[in-house]
Amino acid sequence: MIEFVKTKDGSPTIYDPETGEHHHSLIGSYTEARYKFAEVARSIIQKKSRINLLDLPFGLGYNLIATLDVLREVENTSKKDNGNSVKQKFLECVAVEKDRKVIEAIGYYPWQEPLKGKFVQLKNVLNEGNQIEAKDFSLNLIIDDLLLVLPKIHQSFDLIFYDPFSPKTSPDLWSREKVLKFFYELLAPGGLLITYTASNKVRKGLQEVGFYIAPSVAVGRKMPGTIASKEPLEASFSEETFEKIQKASSY
Ligand SMILES: C[S@@+](CC[C@H](N)C(=O)[O-])C[C@H]1O[C@@H](n2cnc3c(N)ncnc32)[C@H](O)[C@@H]1O
Repeated sequence: MIEFVKTKDGSPTIYDPETGEHHHSLIGSYTEARYKFAEVARSIIQKKSRINLLDLPFGLGYNLIATLDVLREVENTSKKDNGNSVKQKFLECVAVEKDRKVIEAIGYYPWQEPLKGKFVQLKNVLNEGNQIEAKDFSLNLIIDDLLLVLPKIHQSFDLIFYDPFSPKTSPDLWSREKVLKFFYELLAPGGLLITYTASNKVRKGLQEVGFYIAPSVAVGRKMPGTIASKEPLEASFSEETFEKIQKASSY
């Protein structure tokens, strides 16, 4: 059985002995998912009623859980302002995770409230043929190596979350040819690719495949994450900031 480690906000994470990395920042698994991924995606969630998300790798599913929290918050606010005629938002998520044991762990971890309620639908995903169809979201969970799956996906996404282990321990997962170039093909116009790394090499790779990039927010790490888009991004960083990032980047 996988051993869990409690993070500062009380949400559990997993230590991966192969890479020597935890799945999440110890400041909080949920906190990181919410502020590094879901909140960064808020503008897209506000704009669209049907949102396609490619969630890589799925891990314990925190990024999806936190995104559904933002989606429901956005929807409740819009219902308050405009009444019940507001069109129900729907998140269609395709996710990939290599390690079946991690998904099994979602099922047997003794979740406590408020996470218990948030994870209740995910707990049975393996018994449901790796699919979930719910009122406001669907999940198609592919259990495989994302390096093999990426070339086979032929769909476009408004959001791509990229949250693998670090470039230092898993360089293949950040390769321009094996990974980043597929993201450019898979991202819809107006969409956002969101990742936690500030790695200069990864940022350069994203630009080389055609993306505009900008820093996102720093949560539980020294450096901010990165967002990438096919259109110029407003929050672009200055040369000075870029130099600082280059010097400080620990990857
Ligand atoms: C940092 S964790 C992901 C956390 C996750 N996004 C969440 O919200 O909980 C990294 C995950 O990458 C998975 N992984 C590692 N190599 C992979 C690969 N080649 N393909 C798919 N998943 C992989 C690991 O099993 C682990 O679950």
